Amino acid sequence: MNTRELIDRFEKGEAVIGIVGLGYVGLPLILTYGKKKFKTLGFDIDPKKVEALKAGRSYIKHIPTARIKELVDSGSFDATTDFNRVPEADALLLCVPTPLNKNREPDMRFIVSTAEGIGPHLRKGQIVVLESTTYPGTTDELLKDILERTSGLKAGEDFVLAYSPEREDPGNPNFDTQRIPKVVGAMSAEGLEAAVALYRAALDKVIPVSSTRVAEMTKLLENIFRSVNIALVNEMKVVCERMGVDVWEVIDAAASKPFGFMPFYPGPGLGGHCIPIDPFYLTWKAREYELNTRFIELAGEVNTNMPHYVIERTASALNAHKKPLNGSRILVLGAAYKRDIDDMRESPSLRVIELLQETGAEVSYHDPYVPRLPKMRRYNLDMESVALNAKSLHSYDAVIIVTDHTNVDYEMVVANAPLIIDTRNATRNITTGRDKIVKA
Ligand SMILES: NC(=O)c1ccc[n+]([C@@H]2O[C@H](COP(=O)([O-])OP(=O)(O)OC[C@H]3O[C@@H](n4cnc5c(N)ncnc54)[C@H](O)[C@@H]3O)[C@@H](O)[C@H]2O)c1
Repeated sequence: MNTRELIDRFEKGEAVIGIVGLGYVGLPLILTYGKKKFKTLGFDIDPKKVEALKAGRSYIKHIPTARIKELVDSGSFDATTDFNRVPEADALLLCVPTPLNKNREPDMRFIVSTAEGIGPHLRKGQIVVLESTTYPGTTDELLKDILERTSGLKAGEDFVLAYSPEREDPGNPNFDTQRIPKVVGAMSAEGLEAAVALYRAALDKVIPVSSTRVAEMTKLLENIFRSVNIALVNEMKVVCERMGVDVWEVIDAAASKPFGFMPFYPGPGLGGHCIPIDPFYLTWKAREYELNTRFIELAGEVNTNMPHYVIERTASALNAHKKPLNGSRILVLGAAYKRDIDDMRESPSLRVIELLQETGAEVSYHDPYVPRLPKMRRYNLDMESVALNAKSLHSYDAVIIVTDHTNVDYEMVVANAPLIIDTRNATRNITTGRDKIVKA
């Protein structure tokens, strides 16, 4: 396959960039290519998202509607549910979900259905890049097989097949998609050249690697590294608390070492679409090679126990006030999995709420970005965010800070709530009322 023409189209900014899966990963890619004046075509199976985007509306808090609207109005971005339009794109970047199933094994349904959706419409001379996080071998086994079978074309001969992990960090003001270095691996040297040209056209830095499997494993290593280190500080937190030492102060002090230490912070448990899930993609694949991933399992165990730890700390703090958890009125502050975003996928808040309800506590939550907790895959909480003010705070027996959104007035929370369980050290700078704060 002559990839020269494709590379030229990327270098001249003439290529149409197709993004499949218009979510937290796909939309920032649309904006990034849009900024470089590329035409973009978004595909999604959810007609509601497509409708909103076509009307110039963002449905994700940190992705500004104004930027989507600008692209739609200028005619450089269109969104569709119609896979017949696949041939219009020169590149197809697949950004679909890769969750775990009930048995905590990779759920490849979305990758399979995407491949089956685009395969029949694939044409010669296109490049397909998988961006979803997954186990090594997904691109050159699973994806390749489906695309070749459904298109009648050959990867590496008729079209380029590559893998490039997504490192998007939603809401991070210092690193947007353009500034995050992009690792990419392809199935041939020529294909890699095309893949590098595709990303170089819009991103500041591209790091080519020797295969799709290296690129797939790179992403897993990054997220396993985070999961293991978070588990380590969570374990340290429990030990420190028992010994009467403030783990946060310890971490800050250790972070003064200019080499060989990188701070990670404890919390109420892991959340989000990546860290609690991705490591288990490797665990599953390693079994095929008769290997156990013990660090991953241990980190999972420690991190999964954190919401239970928060409940235990809450129960003992209430006990000191001569109150049982059963029947107590508890406010959970924050539903999103991390600060200043509206994403509550896998959020530890949900588990904390569920565990509190199981004990018989009367639970409410407040989150400025999550007005409702709808029915989700694992949770069926069906709750609405309640008001947060001095009067309402007095009516609770305890407030548990699970997400440390920056626009919450923690001084007001401490001044008015009878008891505060702080899982994020959000109250670190508050000087009055410290005797009411319990760290967990
Ligand atoms: N969210 C993050 O911050 C982040 C960061 C790095 C990597 N990732 C990885 O990126 C991938 C995508 O994650 P996300 O957070 O963007 O997910 P998301 O749920 O926000 O978006 C995925 C989109 O894909 C659509 N979709 C599902 N099946 C489809 C199909 N067959 N054809 C077309 N569209 C389809 C869904 O409707 C949805 O809009 C996952 O593998 C995730 O692990 C996510």
